Amino acid sequence: MCGIIGAASSRSVGKILIKGLQLMEYRGYDSAGVVLNKDEEILRLRSLGKVSKLEEIMISEKPKAFSGIAHTRWATHGAPSEENAHPHGSHDDIYIVHNGIIENHEEIRCSLRNKGYEIASETDSELIAHLVHFYKKESQDTLQALMKATTELNGAYSIAVVCKEEKGKVYAARQKSPLLVGLGIEENFVASDPLAIVNITEKFHMLEDGDFAVITKEDVVIYDQEGIIVEREELKIDGAATATTKGEYKHFMEKEIYEQPDCIGNTINGRLGESDVLDNVFGLGSSNSFKDVKRVQFVACGTSLHAAKTARKWFEDICEIPCYIDFASEYRYRNPIVEDNTLFVTISQSGETADTLAALNYAKEEKYLGIVSICNVPTSTMARESDWKIFTNAGPEIGVASTKAFTTQLAALLILALSISKSQDKNQEKRKQAAQDLRETPALIREAFKLKDEINTITNNISSNDNALFLGRGMYFSIAQEGALKLKEISYIHAEAYPAGELKHGPLALVDETIPVVALAPEDSLVEKLLSNLEEVKARGGTLYVFGNAGSTIEIKKGKFINMPKCGDYNAPIVYTIPLQILAYEVACLRGTDLDQPRNLAKSVTVE
Ligand code: G6P
Repeated sequence: MCGIIGAASSRSVGKILIKGLQLMEYRGYDSAGVVLNKDEEILRLRSLGKVSKLEEIMISEKPKAFSGIAHTRWATHGAPSEENAHPHGSHDDIYIVHNGIIENHEEIRCSLRNKGYEIASETDSELIAHLVHFYKKESQDTLQALMKATTELNGAYSIAVVCKEEKGKVYAARQKSPLLVGLGIEENFVASDPLAIVNITEKFHMLEDGDFAVITKEDVVIYDQEGIIVEREELKIDGAATATTKGEYKHFMEKEIYEQPDCIGNTINGRLGESDVLDNVFGLGSSNSFKDVKRVQFVACGTSLHAAKTARKWFEDICEIPCYIDFASEYRYRNPIVEDNTLFVTISQSGETADTLAALNYAKEEKYLGIVSICNVPTSTMARESDWKIFTNAGPEIGVASTKAFTTQLAALLILALSISKSQDKNQEKRKQAAQDLRETPALIREAFKLKDEINTITNNISSNDNALFLGRGMYFSIAQEGALKLKEISYIHAEAYPAGELKHGPLALVDETIPVVALAPEDSLVEKLLSNLEEVKARGGTLYVFGNAGSTIEIKKGKFINMPKCGDYNAPIVYTIPLQILAYEVACLRGTDLDQPRNLAKSVTVE
């Protein structure tokens, strides 16, 4: 969601900025723009739609400039349009790009109008340009003006600024929205995402909340919120490890689905011993601290929330402790009662989701035993802000619809359950079984890939309907929810998941001869009950697509039974996710949607 890049270089920066925007396209956006601080003038180009459109305009202009800023916008305040696209300017002097939301924008707008400023767009972001312009008139110093302007802003922001008079210089500020500095040779950068510049440099400084930075081609100076020059840790981000090509695949999502056996291998490697989890895999001292955990509070959003819901049973079963799960966007607004010895756990692919981060910050003020993050991006804010963490090691996930992040989160959650259980010396046999199941997961996922042809025999029917129901029981209800979310996100089919036992309490009214009903029927203690629920669908002439195995065979008159590989208790939820991902992917291909960047969605949701 919104990508910022700024560059100061000894070479022309136009192409670097456009390439950076393209590498951040996956985050989700609806318009894009660039400002180039050319010798003779400021050139601003903006366009609605894809970055390639902006690139075409830029190629025709052939601009030469050694500094500039660029942005992909995901509309929050004001419709997607050229006028609302960033960069926004004030008096053809100050230009800014912004990621985040300025909550007190109405108040600032009024005050700026009273001071005579004309506001050209509907965005909250444009106001920042005018504020900087206003304060610069006082001090004649852009950094001071930016510092003063940010004291007026409530909300979240990462900002990059250029000033017409100051060729070769970019200013930046960060508060609760990702921004880092990239260090090159005779060039330096700011960006919301290391992916934007990882093809140019591997050296980065993460900015902290309240930081400001001034970059030129020779130098980077970082200031804290008091305006004092500070050193921030230098990080190396391996360019090869973050490679973002589709390779032989049509879409990133497809590639990411088929990478899952390796990804799960990377999640468990170095964390599992012969028959148990290793000590301190969440960081030094974690195993000792986990002795005291009496309950767990999970918060997350989207797919990551489904991972928590799925994993709850593992914590109840292996650790014998209760689990509470909340939408990150709801958690902090309901005065949660925190009991002693509760572990707070955030789950996030990006580690930058605004709601999850805000929940984490709220939790820091509460009497939690500690904060654990399960996260895919080691450089993320969430990872930095947590007491203990485990990285899912899935590699960059580019497709907006999360796939490998989800299954690796499940593996990491099982590792967390094993760690707590081991610290508390509970259920050793179950731990041994779970560790063995985890090791067998990559091979079982490969088996599940072989179902693709069979799945393709049902995709036509699903793609020709605008609705679908997904059913499961126990952990498989959460997997069904994740399957429905995948289908909805990328094919725009309205898909809902229900615990199969709830069918007769409402959704059964939707069942007729057309609506496809997808059911997960692994051989577990609930399978008999599930099969009875499916009879209710059959009795109404419904079309059933059932993923199950020998013990859950059901005679299907309309629809299809797809035989799953025989799984262990602890890896079956991961393996049953795979056919649902393939199903959603293949249906979206049939419907011809832009499935790596589905409409209206963003990969990294950095606003509340
Ligand atoms: C967005 C993405 C989802 C993701 C959710 C949470 O909505 O489109 O795929 O599950 O954010 O993101 P996180 O990075 O916190 O897991």
